[in-house]
Amino acid sequence: MRAKKLNRGVALVGAGMSRFGAFPADTTRDLFVQAFREMRASVDKGLDPRGIEAIYIGNYSSDLFEGQGHTAPLMADWIGLASRPATRVEDACASSGVALRQGILAIASGLYDMVLVGGIEKMTNLPTERVTDTLATAGDVLYEIPAGFTFPGFYAAIATAYMARYGASPESFMKVGLKNHENGALNPKAQFGATIRTMMDRRIASAKAKGRPMPTWEDEMAFLHDDNANPVIAWPMRLFDCSPISDGAAAALLVAEDLADSFSDVPIHIIGSGQASDCALHDRPDLTTIASARLAGEQAYQMAGVRPADIKIAEVHDCFTIAEIVATEDLGFFAPGEGWKAAEEGVTGRGGRRPINSSGGLKSKGHPVGASGIGQVVEIWHQMRGEAGERQLPNSVDLALTHNVGGTGQTCAVHIYERRR
Ligand code: COA
Repeated sequence: MRAKKLNRGVALVGAGMSRFGAFPADTTRDLFVQAFREMRASVDKGLDPRGIEAIYIGNYSSDLFEGQGHTAPLMADWIGLASRPATRVEDACASSGVALRQGILAIASGLYDMVLVGGIEKMTNLPTERVTDTLATAGDVLYEIPAGFTFPGFYAAIATAYMARYGASPESFMKVGLKNHENGALNPKAQFGATIRTMMDRRIASAKAKGRPMPTWEDEMAFLHDDNANPVIAWPMRLFDCSPISDGAAAALLVAEDLADSFSDVPIHIIGSGQASDCALHDRPDLTTIASARLAGEQAYQMAGVRPADIKIAEVHDCFTIAEIVATEDLGFFAPGEGWKAAEEGVTGRGGRRPINSSGGLKSKGHPVGASGIGQVVEIWHQMRGEAGERQLPNSVDLALTHNVGGTGQTCAVHIYERRR
């Protein structure tokens, strides 16, 4: 295949997000305005928003979650840019990873010099069972959903196949959840923002205050094995293996590379972009890998001219804990069947050789599905510029990657970022 290159370089010069969580008093518009304001404040040399020429917004299902369609022009209006071409991008949970790619392509084509990309979702208006039904529309409603699949069910099938082939156990998945809650506890934007130890202590304190029997968990693993504290959602996926139901928004500013210095002291260059699709899960020959992620990763590495071993940090799509393990293999960080061992051995922790999801990931930071892809970009922006506060990685980050999956991998977008000074 011909080597794919952008015709013009693209740089990230600002990024911001709302908090992720449940915000009954806020509309999607409020959350997007929060994200936009934070993004604007992050542009080192200031941003006159009137320079933004086009807007791409990732949004999975505002129609079903909120009864509001046609969301991109609304977001443009609420940030004072009603006349700009504003396009909604829908690719399930990869909606804003793909919106990012659309923004990159629009600049690389030469059509625009400055593009705003964002993501929005407000899921908590609906009760859990209706959220589950809405998310299920990202599966194959002809073949999969009538057979009883839900999203926890899909990833449970992936986890079961993975365990059978490679010898991983439910404890391997629990280690991913533990690690991501450790990271999320250091992220002020995270939905949970607490370690599992802290959550255990809160429950013990609450039982004591109410005069109820005090739980006697020996440690975090005992808590995670407790069917009351951590119920099975779809075996082997338990509550703490699932990302939550979330509201949130994120925004990032892209400019043509030659303009980056007039906006930023430390621009982040986007040097690789890949996107691929796949059939629905029920038609796949192998459930232990996501082909679209492998393909999108290969495209991004090839465009960037780097190898998996060069990447210092990655935000990957851990909608369920098994998904993080599979992602680290699909992206070439570990060989097939080795990802669970890396998770168990702490290799993917903040102090490990291959830090994954320093933000807390979707598991702990939250997963407002259409916003998650740009949410990942916000973490990379902070880590690469040394602005990640308490969760800042010890070593400088010159190359980073984001991996954003839609559905069970019918879509995947992968991007690679470089800090040059
Ligand atoms: N991880 C850890 N704790 C969670 C949680 C999660 N994912 N989701 C909810 N909780 C906690 C709540 O904070 C609450 O704790 P509290 O009692 O101490 O206040 C408790 O569990 C009950 O919360 P509730 O909102 O009633 O949970 P629920 O049973 O309605 O929903 C899930 C739990 C797992 C079913 C829901 O989060 C879910 O569907 N997640 C997957 C979302 C998804 O599929 N996204 C797309 C992926 S591709």
